[in-house]
Amino acid sequence: MKLKQLFEQRPGPYIIGHRGASGYAPENTMVSFERAIALRADAIELDVHPTSDGELVVIHDPTLERTTNGEGLVSAHTLAQIRELDAGSWFDPGFKGCRVPTLQEVLEWARNRVKVIIEIKLGPMFYPNIEELVIATLDRTGMRGDALVISFDHFCVRRVKELAPDIATGVLYAARTIDPVRLARDANADALLPYWALLTPKEVEAAHDAGLFIAPWGGPEQDYRYILSLGVDAVASDFPDRPRLVLEGQDQS
Ligand code: G3P
Ligand code: CA
Repeated sequence: MKLKQLFEQRPGPYIIGHRGASGYAPENTMVSFERAIALRADAIELDVHPTSDGELVVIHDPTLERTTNGEGLVSAHTLAQIRELDAGSWFDPGFKGCRVPTLQEVLEWARNRVKVIIEIKLGPMFYPNIEELVIATLDRTGMRGDALVISFDHFCVRRVKELAPDIATGVLYAARTIDPVRLARDANADALLPYWALLTPKEVEAAHDAGLFIAPWGGPEQDYRYILSLGVDAVASDFPDRPRLVLEGQDQS
């Protein structure tokens, strides 16, 4: 699989810390990313939106309410305004004071440490030139070869590849599609990222026959034993230690 080059340090399957270790710490914060590494994740996944002054910040929703003490659209606030917010207390008062990181900050921290999967979040807000902003940030931080850029918006995935053919890309989806390989081909993507429960052994085989990397994702409902039995290349988890225990044959559940 082409994308195995991204994880050259050891054979897969690889474990991706979903929004860091978001089952244990407030998602998409530095403490969550640190925790994912401590739990031996091979990569971290994060979500990006732009601020009103054109900076990329790491946050899942287009709005501030769920994961910060702010209100309104991320894209209606400046970076300075967003940096004032508390992104930890909603998860647990012990995380009070955690900030919303910038993509630049996370990539600098990740360099020579861990691979980064960047999800470009679009809809219902569609941000012009977000692809250029992500690529420029990868360039500034020297992380172009250590990232996978993904989105549910396959036009966006295609655009990233048009602008930067050497950057690894992947298509996210949450459906049992008729032809997942075609989905990747239409976006010129290197990877398929299906919702785990709709994945079948046939789909994994088709992805591998087509030279595609396949890495399912999901929430706390995931069955890692089942997922890993399908022969996937990677799995994204809020609890990176759980699939690791399965891989090491130590899962007692
Ligand atoms: O890794 C893919 C996954 O992150 C997509 O869903 O909603 O958690 O961003 P979501
Ligand atoms: Ca995501």
